[in-house]
Amino acid sequence: MANREKLTIVADDAALARVVTNLVIGEAQVALNARGRFDLALAGGTTPKAAYAMLAEEHRTTLDWSRVRFFFGDERCVPPDSTESNYRTAHDALLGPLDIAGARVFRMRGEDQPAAAAAAYAQVLRHELTGDAAGTPTFDLVLLGMGPDGHTASLFPGEDPRVGDDDLVRAPYVAKFATHRLTLTPRVIDAARVVAIATAGDAKSDALHAVFDGPSDPATYPIAILAPASGDLRWFVDRAAAAKLAR
Ligand code: 6PG
Repeated sequence: MANREKLTIVADDAALARVVTNLVIGEAQVALNARGRFDLALAGGTTPKAAYAMLAEEHRTTLDWSRVRFFFGDERCVPPDSTESNYRTAHDALLGPLDIAGARVFRMRGEDQPAAAAAAYAQVLRHELTGDAAGTPTFDLVLLGMGPDGHTASLFPGEDPRVGDDDLVRAPYVAKFATHRLTLTPRVIDAARVVAIATAGDAKSDALHAVFDGPSDPATYPIAILAPASGDLRWFVDRAAAAKLAR
């Protein structure tokens, strides 16, 4: 059962974009002050687009973006210029408008053979990120969304997300989409200093109710597997997504 104390309910999409933007800027300043760089894993899907645009529009000069490195929580197995690509979504809304140098953007290569792309990205994480005490590469902030079925990143229902958790990046076959995906594993997500889940809309209300008000059931709702060891897991949802939460 997710922790209600870590849940922020906001009015609508615009308010959600605002709180996510403020979170990213706040965590970036903490990381830059503490370690001189900010390693951020971006969420895919559509929900974060408004926050990405707000970051680019409002914070071009309020943050030293040259010390921010961008990674991805998951990716579709498509080329980077595909409209389905999470990289393209982030590039169009954030990375391009901020003129982020390619050397500071570490995309998952969705155009490559899935298993090879997953193994290659695991090597990128090992090489670029500092490991925690268990040797797991550590992000400063992992942004995530949630699907109506309770998936997050590309951890989908039907397979226990704990399976094979000795790896860092996985290439599951997602039957509902008849395609492979690339995704960080719960092990990597949980190693982050901060994990922030942002979700909106009434289509997410049943999954949110199950995760917050029901027993933990990661096989059915994979997002329920997330339990950062020492990091902070925070939820940001709009009223529509929160509509079925127990009072
Ligand atoms: C993806 C995402 C996925 C997404 C949810 C919510 O590649 O699609 O990583 O986990 O966050 O499906 O998507 P929306 O924000 O579009 O509702």
